[in-house]
Order: sequence, then C-alpha cells, then structure tokens
Amino acid sequence: MFARSGDVEKAAGVLRAGGLVAFPTETVYGLGASAEDPAAVARVFQVKGRPPSHPLIVHLGRVEDLGDWVEDVPETARVLAERFWPGPLTLVLRRGRRVPLEATGGLETVAVRVPDHSVALALLSAFGGGVAAPSANRFGSVSPTTADHVRAELGDAVDFVLDGGRCEVGVESTIVDATGDVPSVLRPGGVTREELEAVLGHPIEVHSTSRVRVPGQHPSHYAPRARVVLVEPENVVAEAELALDRGHRVGVLLPPALAGAEVKAHAVVAVPSSMAAYARGLYGFLREFDRQGCDLIVASLPVEQELGLAIANRLRRAAGPRLSE
Ligand code: TXA
Ligand code: MG
Repeated sequence: MFARSGDVEKAAGVLRAGGLVAFPTETVYGLGASAEDPAAVARVFQVKGRPPSHPLIVHLGRVEDLGDWVEDVPETARVLAERFWPGPLTLVLRRGRRVPLEATGGLETVAVRVPDHSVALALLSAFGGGVAAPSANRFGSVSPTTADHVRAELGDAVDFVLDGGRCEVGVESTIVDATGDVPSVLRPGGVTREELEAVLGHPIEVHSTSRVRVPGQHPSHYAPRARVVLVEPENVVAEAELALDRGHRVGVLLPPALAGAEVKAHAVVAVPSSMAAYARGLYGFLREFDRQGCDLIVASLPVEQELGLAIANRLRRAAGPRLSE
C-alpha cells in the first residue's frame, strides 16, 4: 500500500513532465507541482479551486538548498531552519528569482519548508528541484491526512498519489514570517510557539490577521461539511442533546474531561488527552462526522498552549462562516 522506490521515481517523472503529484508530509498531504513550472503551478490552483492570488509553499529536500530559493537568509531564519528542518515549520522569506510569481500569488515573498517525511524527502531528492504544494484538499475544506482522503477528494484530478501512510503530526506547519527583524507566527501549527520561543530566546507574536494574504487565515478554512458549534467543555453534553432535539444529526468531540460520559448523539469521538494524538486525529475525526452524515458537530476548545494552539485555531476556523454561504 505504501510508496515503494519505483513509485517515488515515477512521481518524480510526473513532476518533471509538468504533472501533479499528491505526496505525504509529516503534517498533511500536499498537492505538488514543480515550483519552477508556471503551467503546472497554475493547474494546482485549478484542481484545488483556489484563487491564484493565494500563495503556495515551496518544499525543499535539504536545508542547504534554502539559499537557492530566497533572496537572502536572515540570521533568525537560518537559526530556525537549522533547528526545525526537516520539520513542520514554514519560513516566509524574500522571493528568490528562481521562484515564479505564479507560486507566490504575485508576492515578493515565498514560503519554504523542508518536510520531515521519508517519502517526501525521497521524492524531493529524486526530483531535484522545489515542489510547490498546498494541502491536497479542495479550497476551504479539511486537509487530508491519509492517501485515501486525497483520492476521495481529488480523484483523477491528480496524476499520481504517493501513499506514505497516515501523517504523524496531523495539522499543518507553523508559518513564521522571517522577512523582518522580528519574526512572527502567521499560522500556528506543528512547531509550537513554546518551541520557537525557546530557540529565539524571546516571546513571539501570533497574528490572527496579517497584511499578507494567508488563505489559512480565512475564517472558513479547515471546515467539514457539518457546522461546528464550540461550547465550554461542561456544556458539550447538554448542547448535543439540544441539537438532537432540534432534529440535527449530531457529532460530538467529547473532551477528555468528560471521558466516559453518556452523550446522546449520532457519532461520538472521545478526544485523546495527549495533544499530539488529538492533532494527529483531528481532521480524520471531522471527516468521519461528515462520512456519518452529521450536519452539526459539538466541540470545545483545548487549552491554547503547545499543540493546543493549532488545534484551537483549526476548530475556530471550522466553526467560522463558510466560503460558499
Ligand atoms: O504543513 C503544511 O504547511 C502543508 C504541507 C503540504 O506542507 N501545506 C499547507 O499548504 O498547509 P497550504 O497552501 O494549505 O497553506 C499554506 C499557507 C497558506 O495559508 C498561504 O497563504 C501561506 O502558507 N503562504 C504561502 N506563501 C506565503 C507568503 N509568501 N506569505 C505569507 N503566507 C504565505
Ligand atoms: Mg490548506
């Protein structure tokens, strides 16, 4: 089921020929195209249904390659790259000439990262260039964390799906704007704020809105089909019953504090008490509620520290207003 060496070679060939490859990373699956091929990059936007003004992440195989893709590497960026790559950290830096504007949505900055997944690294090594990739889901929906999610959502629209099993981290990378003197977090993710601060030696700001366009910051992102309602943990059971009485098909993300509690609902997922396990499972849980036909999901926010910050960010966005509404 998982990618074999022949698959990696084949996928690299598809990229070289201007095709699209869905590939696993430690965070979520990406929908990749050669970063230097504007026509292939344009197809990524088309398949995703994403406006071309929304920039992609350029995935690199080696930390040493960073300098080839950005205009300059400020000291802070170098320190963060060396500490966290390969890993779930994306750095926004000034665009190098090698990166076409198609990949950056017209911006003079570019987002880059080295993913920590053996299949992704094998693909990047076999291909030899940068792979521009957003998450391999349609615009506005939940990111895929298995190859099956990708196949179910994108089907024949991608030329090749590399299967690398289930993504270990489960939420997207942390995006850090490292263009200025003071780095800031544009999207919380797999590398925690606490980890960044430990390396930087000072607090880092987490911006919920920013001057640059970040689709992940649109409130409607990461949304399942079902509507998500956020309540305090102690109100989850009552809220679910209320929704049930009103005729909803209810899914419940049961917080660890309520483990074992009896809940009336169509589908109940006990949230793991480990934040790493919760992050790993989150998008799969949301997809499962959709699969079971739930039209309303009752959930509460975890404590917003460490990975809880990224989880809460995704739940808030899933609960936000919809693009299509
Ligand atoms: O974990 C991840 O980051 C996954 C895997 C596949 O690497 N990718 C991912 O890509 O989540 P995507 O396209 O779904 O989200 C990339 C985010 C978007 O919010 C985009 O706006 C932001 O990166 N981004 C890209 N280039 C940027 C730039 N130059 N300035 C600010 N934000 C940028
Ligand atoms: Mg995405």
